[in-house]
Amino acid sequence: MLKNPSSKYRAFTPIKLKDRTWPDAVITKAPIWCSVDLRDGNQALIEPMDVDRKLRMFKTLVEIGFKEIEIGFPSASQVEFDFTRRLIDENLIPDDVTVQVLTQARDHLIHRTFEALQGVPKAIVHLYNATAPVMRKVVLGMSEDEIVQLATKNAQLFKELAAKQPETQWTFQYSPEMYSDTELEFSKRVVDAVTAVWQPTPENKCIINLPTTVEHSTPNIFADMIEWSHRHLERRDSIVLSVHPHNDRGTGTATAELALMAGADRLEGCLFGNGERTGNLDIVNVALNMYIQGVDPELDFSNIDEIKRTVEHCNQLPVHPRHPYVGELVFTSFSGSHQDAIKKAFNARQEGEIWDMPYLPIDPKDLGRSYEAVIRVNSQSGKGGISYLLESEYKVALPRKLQIEFSQVVQKAMDAEGAEMSAKDIWAIFQQEYHLDEAAPAYQLGGDGATTTIEATIRKGTAGAAVQGQGSGPIEAFIDAMTKATGKSVQVLDYAEHAIGGGAGAQAMAYVEVDVDGARVWGVGQNPNIVTASIKAILSGIERAGVDLAQLTIVQEPAATA
Ligand code: KIV
Ligand code: ZN
Repeated sequence: MLKNPSSKYRAFTPIKLKDRTWPDAVITKAPIWCSVDLRDGNQALIEPMDVDRKLRMFKTLVEIGFKEIEIGFPSASQVEFDFTRRLIDENLIPDDVTVQVLTQARDHLIHRTFEALQGVPKAIVHLYNATAPVMRKVVLGMSEDEIVQLATKNAQLFKELAAKQPETQWTFQYSPEMYSDTELEFSKRVVDAVTAVWQPTPENKCIINLPTTVEHSTPNIFADMIEWSHRHLERRDSIVLSVHPHNDRGTGTATAELALMAGADRLEGCLFGNGERTGNLDIVNVALNMYIQGVDPELDFSNIDEIKRTVEHCNQLPVHPRHPYVGELVFTSFSGSHQDAIKKAFNARQEGEIWDMPYLPIDPKDLGRSYEAVIRVNSQSGKGGISYLLESEYKVALPRKLQIEFSQVVQKAMDAEGAEMSAKDIWAIFQQEYHLDEAAPAYQLGGDGATTTIEATIRKGTAGAAVQGQGSGPIEAFIDAMTKATGKSVQVLDYAEHAIGGGAGAQAMAYVEVDVDGARVWGVGQNPNIVTASIKAILSGIERAGVDLAQLTIVQEPAATA
């Protein structure tokens, strides 16, 4: 790279628009959307779509709710021509959808384009020619006057050919290609000349489409350009002002949004930003940005994963896992502090409230995505994510101190394995760590109301020990029994319980923090019976504190009675 890039690259000259109004504008309604997936998107594919893929894409675009769809460049190839014919001949275009086709400003191509459209009930025919200085001077070798003449001559041909097919309701569209790099005054001159030929009216508008064929500037400069054109173009009330951003600087979305604020009525783009080089405008991105501002985008992405699969199939290109709104990982937090915040916010949220969720700008459910992937656990994660997964997948709600203890267990496993862990992996570690699969001891409770006695048989492997104790309740009695059987000081420091499920299949979860000769650990027990679950939890804690249950002292003296 150059030490002094200005020796090779020039900065874009700011637009002199001191009284710009777009910075204060707010987007309050959906623009007219036009998908160019089947044209600009298709042109950019390593393997252009075959007819089956085109049909599948077209059907998907219709289902999403696009009312204007650019279906191709019929004069460019037989496949494009045939596809246009197929949609028309097989009546595949819904009544409320207008197809659009593109043609260069060359008369044989325009003739072929109108031929491809014979019999279509309504269509947008899209004319373009380059207007930027580099194209005029270096590529085309044409003067400004010649460019204006090229555009107007072909605009005139549009009129004549359309008049020969009066059964079709025609809309004309013109794009000064590379508008983003064309002098504003000159683009106005060409566009005004074209609309002077077409003579659109407020009832029968034409579309003027202003592309950032290549992004050259920050989006505010493009917004200034659009506001300038919006204010200066002749016959503005008879024009649908459209923009067609590309994404060379990675600012296609911002460019489109600021352009809408600056006066554009219509956006052209592709699903998930497919398109030449870095792509066309990502329409999904802009639409869902609107949605999370409370504005109905009038496009339906309720099943975004299905749409993604279709687009990947048609384009034979993958969508990046971090692509806004759709990527596999975009609703996933790995970071512990993020997971903690999300878990708390989910717990606090009441159905029907305004969405105010940390780290989740949109409810994944609105896009047909589940909460399952919201939190995934890797070595960066903390207790929040781990306990969220246990709670959401296994309905197990760990007390906070136990969350901390268990997250260290998971962390150790993670450090050893080094991989991401699923809810299933974490549940397996939990079961193993807290001995959840071990059989409950056989026990009998007795007592006189004031005191509870317990006699239990603790089995570990082939060993079995009969233990006895007493206390003011079953837990105290069992602690007493285990104190005698282990010869250690055993105390309960904390206790929590909850049910999982209901009815005959309900399970109780008991969590007990025990102190065994100064070692503080948690134990967990699960059983349909809450007392049994608690006894299991105490045993789990004692065992985790390092006591070998196979070596217990058999306590045979009868339980004392009061
Ligand atoms: O990017 C572009 O300039 C185009 C035009 C044909 C509209 O695709
Ligand atoms: Zn384009």
